[in-house]
Amino acid sequence: MKINKYSVTFLMSVLLISIFISCNKGDSPDFSIERLISEMTLQEKAGQLNQVSGYNVNYDKLLREGGLGSFLNVFGAELTNRVQKIAVEDTRLGIPLIFGIDVIHGYRTIFPIPLGESCSWDPDLIQRTSAMAAAEARASGVHWTFAPMVDIARDSRWGRIAEGSGEDPFLGSVLAAAKVRGFQGNGLMETNSIAACLKHYAAYGAANAGREYHTVDLSEKTLREIYLPPFRAGVDAGVATLMSAFNTINGIPATANNFTLRQILRGEWGFNGMIVSDWASIHELVVHGYAEDKYQAGIQAIKAGIDMDMMGDVYQKNIPLLVKDGSISMRTLDEAVFRILKLKSDLGLFENPYVDPELERNLILSVENIALARESAQKSIVLLKNENNILPLNKNIRSIAVIGPLADNKDELLGTWKCRGIRDDVVTVLEGLRSAVSSTTTIRYAKGCEINDDNTGGFPEAVGIARRSDAVIAVVGESAGMSGEGGSRTTLGLPGVQKQLIQELSETGKPLIVVLMAGRPLSIPWAAEHIPAILEAWHPGIQGGNAVSDVLFGDINPSGKLTVSFPRNVGQEPLYYNQENTGRPGGRSRWTSRYIDSPNSPLYPFGFGLSYTTFEYSNLQISSETLLPGGSMTVTADIKNTGERAGYEIVQLYIRDIVSSVVRPVKELKGFEKIYLEPGEKTAVEFTLGHNQLGFYNQQMKFVVEPGEFRVWIARNSEEGLEGNFKVNSK
Ligand code: NOJ
Repeated sequence: MKINKYSVTFLMSVLLISIFISCNKGDSPDFSIERLISEMTLQEKAGQLNQVSGYNVNYDKLLREGGLGSFLNVFGAELTNRVQKIAVEDTRLGIPLIFGIDVIHGYRTIFPIPLGESCSWDPDLIQRTSAMAAAEARASGVHWTFAPMVDIARDSRWGRIAEGSGEDPFLGSVLAAAKVRGFQGNGLMETNSIAACLKHYAAYGAANAGREYHTVDLSEKTLREIYLPPFRAGVDAGVATLMSAFNTINGIPATANNFTLRQILRGEWGFNGMIVSDWASIHELVVHGYAEDKYQAGIQAIKAGIDMDMMGDVYQKNIPLLVKDGSISMRTLDEAVFRILKLKSDLGLFENPYVDPELERNLILSVENIALARESAQKSIVLLKNENNILPLNKNIRSIAVIGPLADNKDELLGTWKCRGIRDDVVTVLEGLRSAVSSTTTIRYAKGCEINDDNTGGFPEAVGIARRSDAVIAVVGESAGMSGEGGSRTTLGLPGVQKQLIQELSETGKPLIVVLMAGRPLSIPWAAEHIPAILEAWHPGIQGGNAVSDVLFGDINPSGKLTVSFPRNVGQEPLYYNQENTGRPGGRSRWTSRYIDSPNSPLYPFGFGLSYTTFEYSNLQISSETLLPGGSMTVTADIKNTGERAGYEIVQLYIRDIVSSVVRPVKELKGFEKIYLEPGEKTAVEFTLGHNQLGFYNQQMKFVVEPGEFRVWIARNSEEGLEGNFKVNSK
């Protein structure tokens, strides 16, 4: 595509909006929006752009004057109905409020954190959990979630890695679209749907050194190829809203960024929905040193296309003055108001602003929801190591020692952004194991230590019960607060004395299984070498304990695969599989691209995960030796279950463009299939690879597919696989 084409699309969308605003007549709901806007005072218009957090009576005056368009963090059928009634019955124009909240991985029924759920590589599952979260939220008076978070994260120091789908743009795009479909269901009017919000636009995941809210400095090529695709996929899936990010991008704050917001999002992609700022990010334009004062910040943000000011206090106070002094046009303001009212209309709020408290009572935390939470946690678990098949355990085992600060912990299993999740809903690992074992099994429990302090006083008791038991399960990792917003770390090991704890447990010589719970990949080289079995459970949500127990006892064969590379040490970060090749690829010599004190490779690679069965990959077939513009080919391999249990396998397709006008990554994921095979069963997995999937942005930022040699893999993870070659010809 050419720039002039983008500009045409952009102008057309602006035109369409103005046609909407000025010409729609008759019975259509858009006519009433137009009429409404024409009846609004400047102050009421600015009020629609204003969003504040949490209801209290001090807001009543502003609300009655039409000074508020939306609340965040106000929920519950009874409360939302009460506040809505003020907006609908006691304001001059009766415009309903829109209530938003962060429904990130469940509303009350809490599923695994998004990073965990992404390891299922299962868009259908993710669509179902998003839909269920939406139904609970809507029944509770919530119309809008600030999710999905689709930021690609290549640096595990960044705490918000927990909220997204990992490091890969292709997988991230598939899962972004699945979440949008799940939240928005069959239309925003439905009583089980909510508006989704792609965030944080854009490139928030590229924060320098993994430090929260930090600067982003990156090439347009990396922006377009790595960070933008999940947003594009979400827009194409029909997302209703987007949220701008806190960070700068090459010196320009994302919340006032005409390039990413106006040119790319509204122009190239034709997005006409509503854009909300992140919390006070309009005001922060001043703190960044980009705006002189709130007044200028308001001009910059609204001109860049930010429609709603989240907790910024900028728009509501300054917009009327800005219009009066000509700094922004009435038309710019009306466009923002239109998008907000349009969203309210799409949600059916003008006809039906209230919710039924009875529905809220029946729907929330229902039996089906809890079952889905268990399924989702089971499918998120990744088996990292299983030496001598020490797992699964036999349910008739005589005794098990369950140890660790996360073994009987309810709060932390909810993870970051627990929304309305509460500790009482959580099944811990200890509880899950107790309900699974036979009556002849003794389970002993000792905490051993806290998550993050230096007290080893509990070690003797823990080691003591380990010595007396036939197997030891240590549940260790991070607290929920160690990841998520504001949760960046400079170390990635087990916090506190937990590493020492597992070292002492290992010295007992008992079969030791480590269950990790965390919001990010932890660097655990010692454990990877010395502990026979390691299970990554992430922060697994309310059914985490049952799901872990299901996997430990083999009721469920683990099938998750990593969506983020596990570092050996923090110094490797940022670490991701789809790096470009260097002129001196890492080897033995000092004069290659390597560290003197660590291998380049991850501890566990992207796409990696074990099963209780084994899968054999064979017979790679490529349907044609050459591919022409507009064409496609199939790449096939036979996958056989060579073990004794049925199981899922996530089969991955990677490519590499060998020589091109811009250096390309050593591997790029282009497809995946999750298949289920009975023992001994074999199936051919076929991928279709289209010519347009082989492209990239060249030096002129033009998306091109260049002729030449390509490599292709059908693979069990990003480091292993069957390899073949083909060529792209220009004609
Ligand atoms: C700030 C966070 O960055 C964003 O993700 C969230 O949606 C808002 N706060 C509202 O809670």
